[in-house]
Amino acid sequence: MLHASASNPHAHPVPGRAPPGAWSPDSWRACRQEQAIPYPDEPALTRAVARLSSLPPLVTSWEIERLKALIADAQEGRRFVLQGGDCAETLDDCKSDSITNKLKILLQMSLVLVQGIKKPVVRIGRFAGQYAKPRSSATETRTIDGARVELPSYFGDLVNRAPFDPQSRRPDPELLVSAYQHAAMTLNFIRSLVDGGFADLHHPEYWDLSFFSHASLSPQRRAEYEQLRGRLADGLRFMEALGERAVGDLTRMEFFTSHEGLNLHWESAQTRRVPRRPGWYNLTTHLPWIGERTRALDGAHLEYFRGIENPIGVKLGPAVRPHEVLALIDHLNPRNDPGKIVLITRMGASRVAEVLPPLVETVTRAGRRVLWICDPMHGNGIKTGAGIKTRSFDAILRELELSHEVHASLSTVLGGVHFELTGEDVTECVGGAAGVTEQSLTTNYATLCDPRLNYQQSLELAFLLARRMGDFPAA
Ligand code: PEP
Ligand code: CO
Repeated sequence: MLHASASNPHAHPVPGRAPPGAWSPDSWRACRQEQAIPYPDEPALTRAVARLSSLPPLVTSWEIERLKALIADAQEGRRFVLQGGDCAETLDDCKSDSITNKLKILLQMSLVLVQGIKKPVVRIGRFAGQYAKPRSSATETRTIDGARVELPSYFGDLVNRAPFDPQSRRPDPELLVSAYQHAAMTLNFIRSLVDGGFADLHHPEYWDLSFFSHASLSPQRRAEYEQLRGRLADGLRFMEALGERAVGDLTRMEFFTSHEGLNLHWESAQTRRVPRRPGWYNLTTHLPWIGERTRALDGAHLEYFRGIENPIGVKLGPAVRPHEVLALIDHLNPRNDPGKIVLITRMGASRVAEVLPPLVETVTRAGRRVLWICDPMHGNGIKTGAGIKTRSFDAILRELELSHEVHASLSTVLGGVHFELTGEDVTECVGGAAGVTEQSLTTNYATLCDPRLNYQQSLELAFLLARRMGDFPAA
């Protein structure tokens, strides 16, 4: 077998930077690492990583290449990406209802978006591996019985457990293997559902949008929703009229997976060569992304990500400078390959109109191929007077609308959206037609990390976005 650096296309020098050294799935270990996990038991970590390396992959290279081709299409404005799921997926979430509900809401949102935007929608879940969370502080301090207690922060179920006690918060390498198993079970169920016709027309309960009829809506909003439902039903009937086989083919869903590639022990243990394809693939997921806190150019995450063949998401917050974005792109995709780079902007509704245009202009002027996606969640976090973390539906919608306007005014395309959402009836974000208020937030506040849109809020946002980006006439 060739040595990694001999055939790795990403080993090309980047103009203006020192040529990177030889890459291997483990070369990140020599680099400075943000959000490094302080595993107290090194031999146990080595054993867990060795075990993980010997287990079969979660996804395949041809699925990854398929997603890359779809993203390349989206970069040309021919498709739209819908990425969504939990902020922090938990091992307990690996239950049939929770998985089915997430698929269902993503499917329903995609149907709404297809109708409005008139482009095929690529569905990418934040699931089957979204188990690791970056934290603003490595430790958390609480006062218990009058004493200050400091423990490691909760870094997600891939690393430690949420309860605030020393045993739970100790980083446990066994969770690397356990999370792999839960991701595999989740994926197995998703694949079976999709293969079994989860989304085909014989299961109308999955695409039925009847919630619009009983949500408490203004007459105008209700009329708009009813119009949309009518158009969806017509579209589906038309497909049905084409015949059973065609229906199956036309409505066969594809789902892809994504997660933040935060814990590099996990990512690199499943990074492999595959027969008959050059390069190395991260086989834990189709689309790993680099978080806002770990995108330092000289950091371990950039070192790891530059060597893999997967499409790569990069989160960009309001502090990023245009030249940094260009350097990130060139580091990760020196050949400017199509379908490779997804820039996920999360600027906040109050900043996006000011900070997004220079980034878009710089990237466009430089001729770099990217897909621009808006994450309207992570720049819009607020705390209520009672200290509860929430996000407002209106701010989320506003960031989406402003991002769309920025791209439209610069003749680029808003090519997708990235949501933290759940198919359940949680009360974590305020606003929307269902009327979650600050006072009702505690009714069903279930997230272990950031607040998610609930089922109704998610569908309503999809509708409002489709109307905004598409040709739905307002009633
Ligand atoms: C996330 O997506 O959950 C997250 C932590 O995002 P960001 O890196 O953009 O803050
Ligand atoms: Co989050």
